[in-house]
Amino acid sequence: MSGLLEATGISKSFAGIQALQDVTLSVDAQQRTGLIGPNGAGKTTFFNCLLGVLAPDEGEVRFKGQDMGGVPVSHRARAGIGRTFQRIELFDETSVFEHLFIAERVRNGSGAFWKDLVGLGRPKPAEINRCREMLDLLGLLPVADEPIEALSLGQGRLVEVGRALMTNPELLLLDEPSSGLDRKETAALAATLRAVQAERGFAILLVEHDIELVADFTEHTYVLDFGTLIASGPTSEVLDDPEVRASYLGTFEAEA
Ligand SMILES: Nc1ncnc2c1ncn2[C@@H]1O[C@H](COP(=O)(O)OP(=O)(O)OP(=O)(O)O)[C@@H](O)[C@H]1O
Ligand SMILES: [Mg+2]
Repeated sequence: MSGLLEATGISKSFAGIQALQDVTLSVDAQQRTGLIGPNGAGKTTFFNCLLGVLAPDEGEVRFKGQDMGGVPVSHRARAGIGRTFQRIELFDETSVFEHLFIAERVRNGSGAFWKDLVGLGRPKPAEINRCREMLDLLGLLPVADEPIEALSLGQGRLVEVGRALMTNPELLLLDEPSSGLDRKETAALAATLRAVQAERGFAILLVEHDIELVADFTEHTYVLDFGTLIASGPTSEVLDDPEVRASYLGTFEAEA
């Protein structure tokens, strides 16, 4: 096995609910991979096992060949796994720039995180440049000084992406980035993600309900249903699979 990420035989249960059963998935460097499945299929649980937020009951997560078992969340982030959250997790009154600046300080490990939060550590020119470069890449420079509460939901998602990218991840885990966005906002988000990924070359594992986005954006797709993988392979083949279509019937019909 030689993928960037190799998760093998992952199982996880919560008080009798088998959220994941023997799930094996790999992502190669620079690859865009989708992970789809109905509500409660285990997608977020799987992300949390990759990130170290949850310890799987069984199975192994390897990243760049290294066994991540027992490696804490912060070390996995430093090793190169970035993430965004299913529910937006930003501070309403904090500016766009400050979100990236805090991530930058955490990345370079100056250890002054809390001091910076209360305004004692001023951004250095190199830090300002890195943050502005990222904001520019994401089209967020015009709103750099706005508080999060002044942004659209789509812009808020891009701030989350930017914050995750400040640590230079080699793998970015996106948990339903289109959630709450309309079609136009979703298309704009996809276009920005594509451009940023082309520029920076990280791999993406994308959890989505929006089949159109998965079809458009990913090369490979895995399908979870009740905690079990029911299909995987090239995205176009997977989305044509009768079993996959059956588990997504409502979605496909709604879009037809
Ligand atoms: N902390 C927890 N404690 C108990 N049960 C949990 C916990 N987290 C998840 N579950 C259960 O595990 C199953 C998988 O949930 P998970 O959130 O991973 O699904 P999902 O595929 O991300 O769903 P969605 O599409 O709604 O986000 C569900 O039955 C859920 O209720
Ligand atoms: Mg989820």
